[in-house]
Amino acid sequence: MACQLQTENIRKEYPGTVALDNVSVSFDGGKVHALIGKNGAGKSTLVKIFAGAVQPTSGRILVDGQPVVLRSPRDAFAQGIATVYQEMSLVPGLSVAENILLGRLPHKKVLGASVIDWPAVFARARAVLDGMQVSLDVRRQVGDLGMAQQQIVEIAKAMSFNPSVIMFDEPTSALAQHETQTLFGLIRTLAAKGVVIVYITHRLQELPLIADTVTVVRDGRYIGTAAMAQATPQTIVQMMFGEVVQKERPADLKAGTEPVLQVRGLGQKGKFHDVNFTLYRGEVLGIAGMLGSGRTELLRALFGAEAFDAGEIVIGGRSVRTVTPSLMKDLGVAFTPENRKEQALVQILSTRANLCLASLDRISTLGFTTRRRERSVVNRLVARLSVRMPDTEQPVSSLSGGNQQKVVVGKWLNTEPRVILFDEPTRGIDVQAKQQIFQIMWDLSRQGISSLFVSSELEELLEVCHRILIMKKGTLRGEVQPGTLSVDELFVRCMTDE
Ligand SMILES: Nc1ncnc2c1ncn2[C@@H]1O[C@H](COP(=O)(O)OP(=O)(O)OP(=O)(O)O)[C@@H](O)[C@H]1O
Ligand SMILES: [Mg+2]
Repeated sequence: MACQLQTENIRKEYPGTVALDNVSVSFDGGKVHALIGKNGAGKSTLVKIFAGAVQPTSGRILVDGQPVVLRSPRDAFAQGIATVYQEMSLVPGLSVAENILLGRLPHKKVLGASVIDWPAVFARARAVLDGMQVSLDVRRQVGDLGMAQQQIVEIAKAMSFNPSVIMFDEPTSALAQHETQTLFGLIRTLAAKGVVIVYITHRLQELPLIADTVTVVRDGRYIGTAAMAQATPQTIVQMMFGEVVQKERPADLKAGTEPVLQVRGLGQKGKFHDVNFTLYRGEVLGIAGMLGSGRTELLRALFGAEAFDAGEIVIGGRSVRTVTPSLMKDLGVAFTPENRKEQALVQILSTRANLCLASLDRISTLGFTTRRRERSVVNRLVARLSVRMPDTEQPVSSLSGGNQQKVVVGKWLNTEPRVILFDEPTRGIDVQAKQQIFQIMWDLSRQGISSLFVSSELEELLEVCHRILIMKKGTLRGEVQPGTLSVDELFVRCMTDE
């Protein structure tokens, strides 16, 4: 069934931005084509055009050499093109099965009336998941699932169309290592059947494992395509950024000795228990662990987003046993959550408004903010994080995924906290922007501000932190110093029960 997907001079303009500038690419079936480029390069826009979700300003799309017009997602499905989007498109209030078969629930006739055939709904959804070798209860509400499981439902939804083209926009950003392996196995099976696979990722270390070719876009332009077997990490980074990405871990990075946050016997039923650690002034403290080990829940409790039922937090000379976000914020705690779409950004508000949201009290006088003061704060943050966008007044929803993530981080830098809790801050961020976020953590460290840094990318923790705590099944099981062990060793420590 080998198939071919092609664009000819595709151009997409948004007010103030050219998202794609005369891009001509071709993806053939039977191979995995990685599509890479820095944040805002135009990757998701290209995928959305193939998916019929966005209309190009000009240019043509061809399937098997024949021009096609994809006016809507329905047109794309009719061509056998399925998409796994970067931002989840699931309905939280519905079950896994309903989400997988959304809009296509099997019906049956009862007394002449057409009703939903629930046994068939569940059976069909289960068959899709079985094909992916995933065990997930199809009756569960999607809103109750973690990010990784939601990602799997998203993929199952695309698979249920039996597509001849499947596009993945950063499918592994919420997945742990073994889940990623399962996904790669699945992708390989699809490719072997002749399906066209387009795969977007910022995890460059995945490329040798999964990609046959790499196609690079930069600032809306097509830069080139290389066979993966011939590409080196240097040439790829050079194509993506036009320059070499600097890694500069400061030699003088010292953590203080003065405790700023002490966690004593903290517990939350069913989530984590007896958690004890001290965060020192200026320290970047990592938390490593597998998915579901309780890292996010711990961070949420430290910010007061969720209550805890045992233990105390000592901060700023106070012992806190009952938390609320406003109390923790007053005590100098800032929190960048993992799910930017639901928890961190107000999609309809502008980038400026989102950046100022957390710090309104600091930039306002008697409750009024002056535009000028806001603008100077915002311009500084945008420059510091190099957010790519035409102007800060546009809704934050018009930013690329990675640029939205930078806004989530930027929003809190302005609050002058004592401690910042970072939950997967680099998700969906390109390697250059990652270095900028690391640089920010190190700058904060020099200013005496401490970071608690949760990341599923173990390399990242080893690169950035002073110390790393290991969390397993809701408890801390030890502590390691970067420089004393390899990534593989850290992975093993996170996985195994000693
Ligand atoms: N709906 C929109 N309105 C205005 N501009 C948009 C819209 N969607 C995307 N853009 C702009 O188009 C450009 C390309 O965005 P796109 O989402 O394709 O980037 P990307 O390569 O997927 O980046 P990332 O790696 O951060 O996800 C960006 O500058 C973005 O701000
Ligand atoms: Mg994107």
